[in-house]
Amino acid sequence: MGRVTGKVWLVTGASSGIGRAVAYGLAKEGGHLILLARRKEKLIEIAQDIFRRYKVDVLVIAVDLTDNHALEHAINWAFAKRPVIHGAVHCAGYGLFKEAVALSYEDMRQMLQINTLSAMHVSQLLTQQWLKRGIPGHLTLVASSAGKIATPASGVYSASKSGIISYANSLRMEVAHAGIQVTVVNPGPVRTAFFSHEASMQAYLERVYPLALEPDSLAQEIIQAMGSKRKPRELNRPSILQLASQLYGLFPIVGDFVVKYFFNLKEG
Ligand SMILES: NC(=O)c1ccc[n+]([C@@H]2O[C@H](COP(=O)([O-])OP(=O)(O)OC[C@H]3O[C@@H](n4cnc5c(N)ncnc54)[C@H](OP(=O)(O)O)[C@@H]3O)[C@@H](O)[C@H]2O)c1
Repeated sequence: MGRVTGKVWLVTGASSGIGRAVAYGLAKEGGHLILLARRKEKLIEIAQDIFRRYKVDVLVIAVDLTDNHALEHAINWAFAKRPVIHGAVHCAGYGLFKEAVALSYEDMRQMLQINTLSAMHVSQLLTQQWLKRGIPGHLTLVASSAGKIATPASGVYSASKSGIISYANSLRMEVAHAGIQVTVVNPGPVRTAFFSHEASMQAYLERVYPLALEPDSLAQEIIQAMGSKRKPRELNRPSILQLASQLYGLFPIVGDFVVKYFFNLKEG
């Protein structure tokens, strides 16, 4: 973890769930923080608590990441305040799970905008700064196991996350020459507020509970990967889902059957 201590880390989606857990985990290791999300009061509350516990520097930026001008301003401000930002963990996102025919155009647009377009925009703004400043930064993008294996009623969400995986695969090759590394995290279900938006999602979480991860333990794995010299391309958790996505590629018809009957998001 020595590679985390004393360095500056930017975390999006830091007001809740995985991002919040990553922020606490980094601070515990002595990392300094720049926390982004929309809810300013939440961020301030978290920043004050982190400072009280770990005495690290914490900046907060309340920003809607889907507002491209506001995001550009936020990243410029962050680099003006902390010219060397060593890495970033992009966690902001959400899922709305309905069958493809039932989603409105606006539902689809919003999900793709925060999950995919904002992830690309955050990545672009950070890597531009790192290239300009000669910083070998580390970018971690939280996608999802849904980006590898789609389930019924997750079409748009899954597409929004597989878009991140493809984008990261390309970006990784483009920036490797500058020592910039890119990791994608693909978690299965994690016990966060992600599931609190709809009753059907709570019911789904209960069905897959034995498979569900705690945000703190996932955050620890993310931070461990950040602290390693050679950062992994991907972190697929729980590991069984890594094997599942490989088997799915080999046996898609059997895979469809298993997914449809055991991981059907539309069945409350
Ligand atoms: N929980 C799971 O089972 C699971 C599984 C796989 C992948 N993921 C992915 O993990 C990431 C984090 O999810 P989570 O489980 O931690 O959910 P969460 O507890 O609901 O946290 C979502 C975070 O995203 C931020 N956010 C959402 N829209 C935003 C916007 N327009 N601008 C800025 N920030 C925004 C929220 O902050 P504000 O509301 O304050 O803006 C919040 O901090 C998401 O990308 C999700 O797709 C989650």
